[in-house]
Amino acid sequence: MTETDSTPTYPLDRLRRVAETAARAANAHNTQPWDLRYRTDHVELGWRAEYALGPSDPSHRDLRLSLGTYLETLLICAAEAGMALRFEPDYDARTARVGRIVPGEWLEPSTRSVADVEARRVWRGAWTSQQVPGAVIDRCLKTAEEAGFRVAVVPTDAARPLLVRAYHWFFGHAGIARELLAWARLSPRHPDYRRDGLNDVMLVLNKAEAAAMRTFFTPAVYRALRPLGLVRLLTTLSSSATSGDGIVMVVLGQGDDPAGEVEAGRLVTRLWLDLFRDGIYVHPQSHVIDCPGTVGELARLCGARGGERPLVFFRVGYPTVDPSARPRHPRRGEAATTAS
Ligand SMILES: Cc1cc2nc3c(=O)[nH]c(=O)nc-3n(C[C@H](O)[C@H](O)[C@H](O)COP(=O)(O)O)c2cc1C
Repeated sequence: MTETDSTPTYPLDRLRRVAETAARAANAHNTQPWDLRYRTDHVELGWRAEYALGPSDPSHRDLRLSLGTYLETLLICAAEAGMALRFEPDYDARTARVGRIVPGEWLEPSTRSVADVEARRVWRGAWTSQQVPGAVIDRCLKTAEEAGFRVAVVPTDAARPLLVRAYHWFFGHAGIARELLAWARLSPRHPDYRRDGLNDVMLVLNKAEAAAMRTFFTPAVYRALRPLGLVRLLTTLSSSATSGDGIVMVVLGQGDDPAGEVEAGRLVTRLWLDLFRDGIYVHPQSHVIDCPGTVGELARLCGARGGERPLVFFRVGYPTVDPSARPRHPRRGEAATTAS
């Protein structure tokens, strides 16, 4: 975090504490790209270029979505702490800024709570066959509509061929493989295991699978084995992400609008926390949108119309084991707290 002024007109220390909790926000590859820049009368929200993904997020859509999930989480936590704040969008790629958080009129605190923020986590394992209730789906559609977006609900069965094809593309892309390895923390001995990235436990890997991933993604091994069927093998090993029943939700937005993607990220937080309260878990799978060979078909499957395009793709359902029993993905602020 950077500080540029020493005469704040609002309680910065409280906001700093709130910001630590808000770092529990979902974000792509757990790079935690957000940056809060404290000014005299507002806090600027931006991102740090070193935490923006490369080949795994070619259009930086996931970056902007992740800044939106963080912003919404921050506002939920601030409201519960009694702070009246609002967001003024002011997207500027040159200065890596999405907008300003400013003192606002007091609004009723959100029904989403800090407890939800702290307990929520991603699920990447297997799913039961239990169906998400229709009333829950209807509520999600309404939440999206109120935020100016449309959510399309697709049976996993219909999305499965796209998921498999997208995984094949993903694992076959050398740049993506390199970046995945760079952010994977495949053993507690990894120096950044308690800071950021994707840990073995939440990637749902046992020791042998973690060792295999470390080996297969090493550039020389990857290059040597890719022509020998490695990509197919990795796709097969990811079968829990592609198999099972349930539904997929796809957030559809209009046109090419960076600020709109930040807003879509805010919506993702609302949907995710509400689902989580009902014991329903979420697995975003961005590559179905990034893969040039699946995004068009996905848009058709969602009935995209009038300039709509898919912004977020996530599986929704009930995990076969309790994810809350597993060590969650870490956050850098927590590592600092533990160390001090
Ligand atoms: C915009 C966005 C895109 C994501 N894409 C993926 C994805 O493609 N595959 C995946 O397994 N998880 C994905 N995630 C989940 C993140 O990896 C996860 O939120 C992060 O590792 C932190 O873990 P937590 O949500 O359990 O706190 C995504 C999350 C966000 C917000």
